[in-house]
Amino acid sequence: MASCLYKSGCMSLKAARGLLSSRLLTPSLALANDKKRNLSVHEYISYDLLESAGIPTPKAEVAKTSQQAYEIAKSLGAEDVVVKAQVLAGGRGKGTFESGLKGGVKLAYSPEEVKELADQMIGKKLITKQTGEEGRICSSVLIVERMYSRREYYFAITMDRTHMGPVLIGSSQGGVNIEEVAEETPEAIIAEPIDIATGIQREQAESMAKKMGFSDKCVSQAADCFIKLYNLFIEKDCTMVEINPLTEDNNGNVLCMDAKMNFDDNAAFRQEHIFSLRDRTQEDAREVKAAEYDLNYIQLDGDIGCLVNGAGLAMATMDIIKLNGGSPANFLDVGGGATAEQVKHAFNLITSDPKVQSILVNIFGGIMRCDIIAQGIISAASELDLKVPIVVRLQGTQVEDAKALIDASQLRILACDDLDEAAKKVVRLSTIVGLAKDVDLKVNFQLPI
Ligand SMILES: Nc1ncnc2c1ncn2[C@@H]1O[C@H](COP(=O)(O)OP(=O)(O)OP(=O)(O)O)[C@@H](O)[C@H]1O
Ligand SMILES: [Mg+2]
Repeated sequence: MASCLYKSGCMSLKAARGLLSSRLLTPSLALANDKKRNLSVHEYISYDLLESAGIPTPKAEVAKTSQQAYEIAKSLGAEDVVVKAQVLAGGRGKGTFESGLKGGVKLAYSPEEVKELADQMIGKKLITKQTGEEGRICSSVLIVERMYSRREYYFAITMDRTHMGPVLIGSSQGGVNIEEVAEETPEAIIAEPIDIATGIQREQAESMAKKMGFSDKCVSQAADCFIKLYNLFIEKDCTMVEINPLTEDNNGNVLCMDAKMNFDDNAAFRQEHIFSLRDRTQEDAREVKAAEYDLNYIQLDGDIGCLVNGAGLAMATMDIIKLNGGSPANFLDVGGGATAEQVKHAFNLITSDPKVQSILVNIFGGIMRCDIIAQGIISAASELDLKVPIVVRLQGTQVEDAKALIDASQLRILACDDLDEAAKKVVRLSTIVGLAKDVDLKVNFQLPI
């Protein structure tokens, strides 16, 4: 769910489904070619960060067990509380647990009810429109005092390429339906760029609050909140802070009811503490594995596995597959100096995805020699006993030797010189395997195919 607000800039390419993030501002594979990945942290951690910056949030405490949830509910001193699934995905409120429980944000009227709800949430997967069918495990719940808001607003800060800096985004129509608001009434979303050199000005913050429709008695508080959020955004090297809903109550108090924060991976060395709070269980298992082997891998929805050296070439490979009517199963850049070992791990990752029906290897041998890569491919294909057909397009240094090695290997590897031809072949092969799968037929490829 990429932003409906910014079709250009850093939120433009939604090819790779979001790397965990907000509902309006899901960052995307636009960042893959500079290997940028943003850390996302749980709501309870964001609450702590907001609180320590003096930004108002409701009273809340995190629980890892239902018993803890019960005790927190008793000690919170609020009659009603809200139980919130701590899952790194948007749309929790409208999500469904694998147990059948509807909603990852639930109102409870007694500590006993809190315990019951926590029992149904902890250790279960929550499926939302951002998690895909497989859902994401909920390992803790946030117990929050129930608040009575008069109005719900949307407020976010992100980096925007068009303005070459941070931008405030706001709407008077915040809440769980914000995507529809952005889609159907984009004029209800307003943006205010900030000059990063001078920082946020009080007048700017107040004008934003007025434009968003805060009532007069709340403008000053809302502006305070924006200024503090902006300063936190800069201080913590965030790429996004999203508060949805930001509320005002009958007494004119402004409050952040939900908080999502993303942090620039390049700033990991400056934000050690925050980065130590990374929850790998919320990330795609294959992507976590890939990071261990120093491979740049992003899971996609298609059926053609890709193994490429260089991020630019990997993007071009995905494009050419699409142009030929296919759909890539992943983005995978093995880097400029890939070893045979890495190539093997890369094949392992690709083939562990059951959707993969054919593989396209596209290597440009520059510093890297093609024959070394070919060796890696051959040993991986035979060691891993790969069943899916592989199309290999090699160009560059020692390409002839590489081709001779592949020919001699007797494996189901089809070598091609031309990228377009390679893409056509891999798409056709995937179609054949797909058709065979549909009718429960085993296909065995022989060379020449
Ligand atoms: N403490 C609270 N008291 C009363 N109502 C709340 C409270 N927290 C959340 N809500 C209500 O529940 C809705 C959903 O909560 P929240 O925004 O935290 O989850 P969500 O938007 O569904 O999930 P996500 O933001 O991850 O997509 C809010 O819009 C608000 O109306
Ligand atoms: Mg929300």
